[in-house]
Amino acid sequence: MKQIEDKNLTPRQIVEALDKYIVGQKEAKRSVAISLRNRWRRLNSDEEIREEIIPNNILMIGPTGVGKTEIARRLAKLAHAPFIKVEASKFTEVGYVGRDVESMIRDLVDISVNMVKQEMQERVKEKAVKIVEERILDTLIPPVRKKQTTSSGFQAEDEFDPGNASDAELNERTRERFREKLKNGELDDRKIEIEVSAKKKPMMQVFGPQGVEEMGINLQDMLGNLTRGGKKVKRTLPIKEARELLLEEESEKLIDHEAAIQEALDRVQNQGIVFIDEIDKVADSGSGSGMKSGADVSRQGVQRDLLPIVEGSTVSTRNGLVKTDHILFIGSGAFHFSKPSDLIPELQGRFPIRVELDSLTEDDFIDILTKPKNALTKQYQAMLASEGVNIEFTEDAIREIAKIAAQVNDQVENIGARRLHTILSSLLEELLYAVPDDISSGEITIDKEYVDKQLQDLATDKDLSHYIL
Ligand SMILES: Nc1ncnc2c1ncn2[C@@H]1O[C@H](COP(=O)(O)OP(=O)(O)OP(=O)(O)O)[C@@H](O)[C@H]1O
Ligand SMILES: [Mg+2]
Repeated sequence: MKQIEDKNLTPRQIVEALDKYIVGQKEAKRSVAISLRNRWRRLNSDEEIREEIIPNNILMIGPTGVGKTEIARRLAKLAHAPFIKVEASKFTEVGYVGRDVESMIRDLVDISVNMVKQEMQERVKEKAVKIVEERILDTLIPPVRKKQTTSSGFQAEDEFDPGNASDAELNERTRERFREKLKNGELDDRKIEIEVSAKKKPMMQVFGPQGVEEMGINLQDMLGNLTRGGKKVKRTLPIKEARELLLEEESEKLIDHEAAIQEALDRVQNQGIVFIDEIDKVADSGSGSGMKSGADVSRQGVQRDLLPIVEGSTVSTRNGLVKTDHILFIGSGAFHFSKPSDLIPELQGRFPIRVELDSLTEDDFIDILTKPKNALTKQYQAMLASEGVNIEFTEDAIREIAKIAAQVNDQVENIGARRLHTILSSLLEELLYAVPDDISSGEITIDKEYVDKQLQDLATDKDLSHYIL
């Protein structure tokens, strides 16, 4: 809730923000902007009506590589909303081998929990840094104990003991000196032994049988719980690495996990965005004899399973129950071989907003190559700059690349802006290999001539471009 409040972009501002990354596709940007703003409107409307307002789910229709996923992804970033992208064709009807549709909500909750915890950890970071500093200092210079017991068993603390006092003082002074060194990074490579929790997020993912998944139990978590409690291991590490580990452990301790989960669930329910890609693949094309094949039946099954989730139902997850009523669903697909009307009617009704994305033209490619914040040419420039080599693309080089991209899309297969990725990597392959061994610094200008030299053979030979571009 508070996230949406400080990020309450107006539809126009949302479109402007999307413009920084995505070329063209005005209609689609407008639609998603309206949908996003509508959620803010809902959250800020009278409580009585709030529960009644349903989200404006969107169906994005358009050929491959024109920005469908990109728009949704950027939108989620803007909204600071939990976001998940799933492929409809990966799901199977309940009872079949494969993932059941509810797993998307469970995954979304996990994403949200991580997101909230990270934010919370960020907030306690300063505090955690201090604690970690003390912990490292403790291993470097163990503190002198304040209460000293004399050999006869008498408490010596109240007695004046010049020797002890200066010990403590000395210790304190050494600590302060080391604190400085620690802060300067002078000790980063020094090895220390620390005790950390045995459980470090395992990279492996445990897939349980479907029944287990349905119950919202995660094997990994169960295993985690078994090992987490108290079990500590000693590790010897350079301070630099130890600091990272301890920081994670300490900031974990400082956050309120219950509150994090509540907030995460709240965010999923009110701001979550689920992007269902390839939704056209679960639509029946309906053509043919009218007899339904097994595959058609199963696709319909997936649609039927999707329906309650999109319509609003309660999904049980290991972090609690999640109501899906106000999650924003964005369906997307090329719909080359089927039409939105081939989806079962109830599902069609749940995606009331339809937007078509345009095929990209040569002119669009010119913009895509240069204008977005993350434009490909900028990415390569940044990568090579890290090696001290500056590359510049002339205008006619960009135009030539765009032309070749359009041409190959035309002749081989239209894969939209993705073509630019393959073309640019072919174009720069030689250069990327030569740096830094043969070229270690300097300015390199990529002009039309260079582009033609590198690409013309490929682009004009249909067989070659099939494989390479
Ligand atoms: N209109 C655009 N503006 C800028 N970049 C774009 C645009 N369209 C596509 N791209 C770039 O092309 C790549 C593929 O785009 P995206 O993933 O959005 O395709 P898509 O429309 O979802 O295709 P598919 O139907 O195959 O999933 C991305 O890296 C994206 O940056
Ligand atoms: Mg996509």
